[in-house]
Amino acid sequence: MFMDECVGVFHLWLLVSCFSPLRLSFRCLVRKYGCDMCFTPMIVAADFMRSVKARDSEFTTNSSDRPLIIQFAAKDAQTLADAACVVAPFSDGVDLNCGCPQRWAVAEGYGACLINKPQLVKDMVRHVKNQVEKPNYAVSIKIRIHKDLRKTVDLCQKVEAAGVSWITVHGRTPEERHQPVHYDAIKTIKDSLSIPVIANGDIKNLQDVESIHQLTGVDGMPTEMTLQWTAVALFLYVEIGILVILCLPFISPQRWQKIFNLSIWNSIGHFWNKGFLAMIIILIVLFLDAVREVRKYSGTQPSKEAMPSMYDHLHMKLFRAQRNLYISGFTLFLWLVMRRVIMLINQLAVANNTSKALHAQTEAANQAARQYMEDIEQLKQALTDDAEGGNRGQKNELLRKEVQKLTEELKISDEALKKSTSEVQVMKKQTESLTKEYDRLLQEHQKLQVTDFL
Ligand SMILES: *[C@@H]1O[C@H](CO)[C@@H](O)[C@H](O)[C@H]1NC(C)=O
Repeated sequence: MFMDECVGVFHLWLLVSCFSPLRLSFRCLVRKYGCDMCFTPMIVAADFMRSVKARDSEFTTNSSDRPLIIQFAAKDAQTLADAACVVAPFSDGVDLNCGCPQRWAVAEGYGACLINKPQLVKDMVRHVKNQVEKPNYAVSIKIRIHKDLRKTVDLCQKVEAAGVSWITVHGRTPEERHQPVHYDAIKTIKDSLSIPVIANGDIKNLQDVESIHQLTGVDGMPTEMTLQWTAVALFLYVEIGILVILCLPFISPQRWQKIFNLSIWNSIGHFWNKGFLAMIIILIVLFLDAVREVRKYSGTQPSKEAMPSMYDHLHMKLFRAQRNLYISGFTLFLWLVMRRVIMLINQLAVANNTSKALHAQTEAANQAARQYMEDIEQLKQALTDDAEGGNRGQKNELLRKEVQKLTEELKISDEALKKSTSEVQVMKKQTESLTKEYDRLLQEHQKLQVTDFL
């Protein structure tokens, strides 16, 4: 199925290569499937400038055919710059082909032979940059590698200095056809530049894309500091910031408590606990993932002599995994510390308030005690004054007499009470005998009634 499609696409490509309107259709087709940027086939800049007919047959486009890079073959700077000015309104950049190994091209001084003329390539890039009046108009080159890799690195650095936007590297020399691609050379080039480098050569499926990206570290794919780690790192910085603010010495715990008690915190309060837990879980997962990565890359390693590029690559991977481990570990740690610090600040504020209240209470109690002491002191003073005065004794005498009088009265009334109690008892006895008499009379009366009846 996949092979069928490949063959189908290949036939389509052959067909398309012949007619420029079909090339446009092909570009529109691949854009539909997510192609980010399209290049035209190589157009010889001199021919393109020479005749309108050549222009029309080589290049067709319309407004939906963007972003579009026009690839030119050129051997002098001014021709290339002129061609670039013509196509600039309909495109986003020009790409200078310095990699085409075909005999006719090399014979005419186009394509791969340009990798031996770094000064010329640099001039061409600079001319286009200076003459196209369109900001952000891209100028790129596509190269093959030199047998002496230093020459290629030198070329690339020169063109980078001239302002090239990116470099596409086909990892073969102009003489090589089906030999394996030198991905380590692409990696060396990538490492010596700061502009994007696109790897090219023998990339046939998505797996190749991934493995070659890993081997070369080129920019044809998303970079390694992924979104999630950027987010975690950002979170870490936010945590550090908040902790620093919480530790500022001149903001009292009470003020912090006031801030924590603001109503906005209440309204997000019920998310807070869930959010806290969710964050912990996310961080733990990331942490474990980083631990797994570190273990994976710190295991068996190829020897540096046997596979230098692989060795460096694994070291880079290990370094990144360790960085991720530290980031997630610290973020997790600070997350817990932050919660604890907020709790402690709250507790400190409460403790401060309680101790203030207690202080006030003891103050009040002390006040009262002092008052009592003063009262007692006054009483004592008064007593001693009385004793000295002497009339206290007379008062006491009077009081004693009064008490005696009262006691006597109490005795009298006690006796009266006893007397009346005995009288009551006598009356009770009389009542009892009367009741008995009455019962007896009642019985006799009944007897009499019975006899009368008989
Ligand atoms: C551009 O050309 C392609 C292919 O011919 C076509 O499918 C597309 O609709 C055209 N777009 C516009 C805006 O004309």
